[in-house]
Amino acid sequence: MSRVTRIKGVADIFPPDSALFTSMEAAARVVFSRFGFRELRTPLLEFSELYARSIGAETDVVQKEMYVFDGGKGRSFALRPEATAGVMRAYIDAGLGAKESVSRLFTLGPMFRHERPQLGRMRQFHQINCECLGSGSPVADAEMIVMLLQFLREIGINGLTLKLNSLGCADCRPRYRAALGAFLASLDADALCPDCARRAGTNPLRVLDCKVSACRELTLNAPSLADAQCSVCKSHFAAVLDFLRARSIDYELDHRLVRGLDYYCRTTFELVSGAIGAQSAVAGGGRYDGLVRNLGGPDVPGVGFACGMERLALLMGKPDAPVPDFFIVAACADAQKQAFSLAQELRDANFHGTVAFSVVSLKSLMRQAHKSGARWCLIVGQNGADAPAVTIKNMTDGSQTSAPMSEIFSLFSHKREFEHASTQR
Ligand code: HAM
Repeated sequence: MSRVTRIKGVADIFPPDSALFTSMEAAARVVFSRFGFRELRTPLLEFSELYARSIGAETDVVQKEMYVFDGGKGRSFALRPEATAGVMRAYIDAGLGAKESVSRLFTLGPMFRHERPQLGRMRQFHQINCECLGSGSPVADAEMIVMLLQFLREIGINGLTLKLNSLGCADCRPRYRAALGAFLASLDADALCPDCARRAGTNPLRVLDCKVSACRELTLNAPSLADAQCSVCKSHFAAVLDFLRARSIDYELDHRLVRGLDYYCRTTFELVSGAIGAQSAVAGGGRYDGLVRNLGGPDVPGVGFACGMERLALLMGKPDAPVPDFFIVAACADAQKQAFSLAQELRDANFHGTVAFSVVSLKSLMRQAHKSGARWCLIVGQNGADAPAVTIKNMTDGSQTSAPMSEIFSLFSHKREFEHASTQR
């Protein structure tokens, strides 16, 4: 019969990699709660309109990458391509703006984008996403970056490059957009890549971060976004940089960092690695004042970021496989019940391990014990089931001791304490 396969760009995350994801999530919960963030779980499905109105109808994410479904009754549903829009919708739905002046929310989980899969670029990927709503202060921007770096340190990732830019605001950016649009219109349209030729009219800022070298060369003399900004935006960005310097955080200014989502204003940032290939951005974010209002909510400023967990996992390396304490085997069918109960008692006492499900030759059981990686193999019923003794075999050095079933529990606890003490020495 033919096999049903996995969809391209959608991964099964087996151990030991799944442990990396669990440890990232645990570290995120610990670090973010130190900064007052609380976990919000939002749906994977939303009305498609939410994304067109937040990320932007002309963006690649909305135009080309969303998984859109017929939701019945003329409604269109989409699998979430990112978390920010859903968090904003939830914030508005719950009326959080009226309940607290600042809302600090994080959310973890899968996102979906119909992209061409490659290393670090998946169709289903996982983000750790943080949003701080309610403050327009540059302190909030700086604190998000500080928190992101602290989280990355906690999971052992250092040495990334922090790239920063300011995109201006609703007052100054339209002027810049017009100037950039006029500049692009003055170029030979055929010299731009087909994407940029289209974006020049619809979303000219995106031409600045095109990776095609011809487009980059053609835009070397484009008007400067930094020069075009109003004094409020300039001083906001200067203050963000000041706060980062106060924490000795290194950064690079990158005037081409416009990001692929339309909701940003003022500060934008990315953390980039030189060690994971072309898909080098492990986190990205920025300020999005006006987004909540554009979605029908109050006029509340916000700033946030998201990290890509698959890309972080590439930087974390393989974790050590956990070492179980025991593997229990029954030497005969009559001893299976004792073996089963012993395993349960040991687990109740916080030992980790498994029990062989069937009674086969001792040789084959020992092979299973070795494969399990356990520190000790407990063999129950070797002397017959009436007076079952348990043999404890140390799987590292092969030494064995034997004890009656009634003593095994305290002996085993003692062994663990002893081994623990020797590893501490
Ligand atoms: P983004 O830059 O689109 O921003 O995604 C954030 C991160 O998600 C990227 O830096 C990358 O690590 C990861 N990522 C994105 N697409 C993929 C993919 N196809 N495969 C694997 N990883 C991927 C956002 O999503 C914004 N919502 C971030 C934000 C939150 N801004 C403000 N608040």
